Amino acid sequence: MRVIHSVRNLHSWRRKQESLDGPIGFVPTMGALHDGHLSLIHRARKRCRIVVVSVFVNPLQFGPAEDLGRYPRSFHADRRLCREAGVDLLFAPPPEEFYPSNFQTIVRVSHLTQRWEGEIRPTHFQGVTTVVTKLFCLVRPDLVYFGQKDYQQYLVVNQLIHDLNWDLRLIRCPTVRESDGLAVSSRNRYLSAHQRVQAGLLSKALREGGNTMRSGVRNVRAIQSRMKKILGSNPDVRLEYLAICDSKNLEPLTQVGGTVVILGAVRVGNIRLIDNLLVRCPRSSG
Ligand code: PAF
Repeated sequence: MRVIHSVRNLHSWRRKQESLDGPIGFVPTMGALHDGHLSLIHRARKRCRIVVVSVFVNPLQFGPAEDLGRYPRSFHADRRLCREAGVDLLFAPPPEEFYPSNFQTIVRVSHLTQRWEGEIRPTHFQGVTTVVTKLFCLVRPDLVYFGQKDYQQYLVVNQLIHDLNWDLRLIRCPTVRESDGLAVSSRNRYLSAHQRVQAGLLSKALREGGNTMRSGVRNVRAIQSRMKKILGSNPDVRLEYLAICDSKNLEPLTQVGGTVVILGAVRVGNIRLIDNLLVRCPRSSG
């Protein structure tokens, strides 16, 4: 596995790939790799001739009061995991290499980024779309792999690819979960044993929402109130939003029908957790 830290070396590596056949798969990450990332890498490994992973804690996607400084960093472990997973190239630029002091360009998707995560973290998605744009321009992949866990991010990146006419395929991979349903996330390592139990309530509430829909309930308020009962059962879990939306544009619904997504965000102590569930329900009213 080759490890590259500089943009210049990445350019020259990429030029050498031109003459070779077969797709280049790319998994962008912020490091602290876990089973969720590994599932993306394995998916890419099965399909692509070359698998590229980036490890870069992107300062642009953290708000001023967020956890950039204490975001987990474990480069040596990440490098080992990538090597073991058969990654061909690990790109890990230092921040000053990636964003030199006169960096001035921001890439922003407008409408899709307004609600939910975008409302709570107003500059988050423009940080994501800026870094992703730069990474796509550098790596020039054929396929890119994103987890469903950050569903709004997936939709925003999908919009970005569409709007900028990139000739690449975005593959959405299923959320990897712990045995109690908690979505695997780099931030889970901040949870104390007590908080870890509470964190499991978010996925439990989402499952309750999905089951309620499948049992025929169509009214969103009724479904939300069943989910909130689960989250409300614990005073240490603070709900930020629990939304039932159109899975394509994230507009909130009043009646469910077709494919919907339940988006949830909670705080357990000062740790933010997000999760979601896609549910297909028949359109007939119940
Ligand atoms: O999902 C993430 O880990 C990040 O938002 C991403 C896509 C690597 C951009 O920094």
